[in-house]
Amino acid sequence: MNIVLTGASSGIGFEAALEFTLHTDNKVVCIARSADKLRKLLEIARGINPECTLLPVEFDIVNDDYAALVPFLAQRLGHIDILINNAGTLINKPFLETTADELNEMLQSNVVGHFNMIQQLLPMMKSGSHIVNIGSMGGFQGSVKFPGLSAYSASKSALHTLTECLAFELAPSGIKVNCLALGSAQTEMLESAFPGYESPVMAFEMGKYVADFARTGHKYFNGKIIPVAVTTP
Ligand SMILES: NC(=O)c1ccc[n+]([C@@H]2O[C@H](COP(=O)([O-])OP(=O)(O)OC[C@H]3O[C@@H](n4cnc5c(N)ncnc54)[C@H](OP(=O)(O)O)[C@@H]3O)[C@@H](O)[C@H]2O)c1
Repeated sequence: MNIVLTGASSGIGFEAALEFTLHTDNKVVCIARSADKLRKLLEIARGINPECTLLPVEFDIVNDDYAALVPFLAQRLGHIDILINNAGTLINKPFLETTADELNEMLQSNVVGHFNMIQQLLPMMKSGSHIVNIGSMGGFQGSVKFPGLSAYSASKSALHTLTECLAFELAPSGIKVNCLALGSAQTEMLESAFPGYESPVMAFEMGKYVADFARTGHKYFNGKIIPVAVTTP
């Protein structure tokens, strides 16, 4: 399978990338901004499976030029079976102190970047492909909400709705679109959202779940926002 995974340099995306590279048939394009962390990922993946095909790509989904990324992917992959929009950032700040720039930053990295990525890569996807957006319980309608996370959670809600709209619009093409609204998993982002909180779910466990869902979830779901949480948060 040909897989493009954003936010692969740490946390859940890092672990999902390692899960995919266990299977030698997979070609996994791993996107993030930190070249050194991507190098580390490649080193670890090759240590686990020397035959794996992992292509690290230093790319900022908000600020970099897709005109350079798209031909690279077309040449190296040809087509894409799975796109996982996992990259994300979080600002934890009281609502009244959150600036317009910070709200914009949340929207850019948690929605607009994914919007652009999907738009650019869709021509390389065909019937049977799966787009997985990584949302959050914070943006899930009716879930318990927490102070300090209004801009982040609002941006995730927008990604959830984008998922539903796209699934409907792309249905005739056979491309499936789903969103995993993640609960907590032990990563740097969780620490900045809930300092000192210890999640019962490790990053590698959530990463494996995300990879498994991306491989098989589109056989059972389309246009769904699926809560993936055993605790609150
Ligand atoms: N951990 C949780 O409990 C939890 C709960 C709910 C939802 N989520 C969601 O799960 C996803 C992964 O989170 P995580 O906890 O694994 O966080 P993380 O460890 O902070 O990972 C975030 C990843 O996104 C990348 N990234 C951020 N902005 C980017 C950009 N503009 N361009 C390219 N890559 C970018 C980061 O890499 P670089 O900095 O190298 O670019 C990093 O690889 C996020 O979407 C998050 O909102 C997590």
